[in-house]
Amino acid sequence: MKFFIDTANLDQIKEANDLGILDGVTTNPSLMAKEGITGTQNILEHYVKICNIVDGDVSAEVVSTDFEGMMREAHELVKLHDNIVVKIPMIKDGIKAIKALTDEGIKTNCTLVFSAGQAILAAKAGATYLSPFIGRVDDITWDGLDLVAQIAHIYDMNGFTTEVLAASIRNPLHIVKCAEIGADVVTCPLNSILGLLKHPLTDIGLEKFLADYRKGNA
Ligand code: E4P
Repeated sequence: MKFFIDTANLDQIKEANDLGILDGVTTNPSLMAKEGITGTQNILEHYVKICNIVDGDVSAEVVSTDFEGMMREAHELVKLHDNIVVKIPMIKDGIKAIKALTDEGIKTNCTLVFSAGQAILAAKAGATYLSPFIGRVDDITWDGLDLVAQIAHIYDMNGFTTEVLAASIRNPLHIVKCAEIGADVVTCPLNSILGLLKHPLTDIGLEKFLADYRKGNA
């Protein structure tokens, strides 16, 4: 399972990348705004900064909702850096754009996915990645992990090559469960990645080992 970080914060991207386990980055307009990155030119420049940190796929989201606009933006985005994957919303024109971009050999990430039906359409269009939003499904008391498992099963059964990129991850348990149910990629906030490190018995054990070492070497 690949690990992407879900942020536009350069320090957090560097910190995750320095761990040596990072395979890519996802962003969206809200994550850009959170970092105070506004205006098309600044946003495009920020994508280049991210691509220069991480050697892996970097999702850059279009903000047009019509086919022509999405295609125009996609062509601008892919010129920025070889790592760019064009993030396209799960709407009718989005599906058309994913198909057209796939035919041109451009990688896509179909975003804002909340149902298996949407996942089938995106795979038929040839999306490189599909982003079901676990946390936002959980927020309405449905089960986001069940959705990811259902999509992973459908893709396996049908031989679809689209990778299931589990998004809207809220905690380390989401990551572990995604690994169990067959997500190809998880995109996570830094806190959830670092949360995987934590276990009280590790801390207690390390403290004891170091205390015993110090006793023997006093
Ligand atoms: C990533 O591609 C998504 O945009 C992101 O994971 C959404 O996360 P959120 O539901 O926490 O905003």
